[in-house]
Amino acid sequence: MLDKKGFDKWAGGYDKSIAESSKGYPFEGYYDVLSAVQSLIKEPSGKRILDVGIGTGLLTNELYKQGANIFGLDFSEKMIIEAKNKMPKGSFYNFDMNEGIPDVLKNNKFDYIVSSYAIHHLRDEDKIKFIKGLKDILVEEGLIILADVSFENKEDLDECKIESGYKWDNDEEYIVFNELKNDLLEIGFEAEYSQVSKCAGVLKLKRNR
Ligand SMILES: C[S@@+](CC[C@H](N)C(=O)[O-])C[C@H]1O[C@@H](n2cnc3c(N)ncnc32)[C@H](O)[C@@H]1O
Repeated sequence: MLDKKGFDKWAGGYDKSIAESSKGYPFEGYYDVLSAVQSLIKEPSGKRILDVGIGTGLLTNELYKQGANIFGLDFSEKMIIEAKNKMPKGSFYNFDMNEGIPDVLKNNKFDYIVSSYAIHHLRDEDKIKFIKGLKDILVEEGLIILADVSFENKEDLDECKIESGYKWDNDEEYIVFNELKNDLLEIGFEAEYSQVSKCAGVLKLKRNR
């Protein structure tokens, strides 16, 4: 698993390297995954959208172009520079999501909180804690959309792991939907999951109370 410095080094060449590696684990179907998230955002113009682990902004740039107000959080300064180049009017926060949500965002409310290929950087127990914290900054009818390397069940993960062989990263903790579903219900979210490619999917969370 890359640390902050690793992501800083990757930032300049990130978009190109993704374009060259959208076959096989981990980025199989990358652009379809991003489109699946973007299509869940109805009438982006004027919407406040927080992108967690924004990277170079590939996910939210399309929504920015359609008039959304983009807020991005990332612990890599260099990734933020790339995102800011794409979205000069965006607001960016250099912050480690292991620390939760930056104080400066705690009085904000977002229509959507999205994330792509970043949530696996949190340990499983920390994912639930982090998602619970997001609830406080989400409007009543808001949506949290988490796209990542993820699976409906453990059998699907195991299959992908075997197929990926030496490429599989044992340090990363991918969402297995049916193992997380009840915890999500307990913290107040109704969850829906759809598998987009063999190794990635989109988790949609809506308040249930
Ligand atoms: C694989 S990239 C994905 C970037 C972008 N969302 C995308 O879909 O292309 C993961 C991003 O998460 C960020 N990241 C990883 N761990 C993080 C952490 N603990 N706190 C904040 N950002 C983190 C990295 O700096 C990087 O920009």
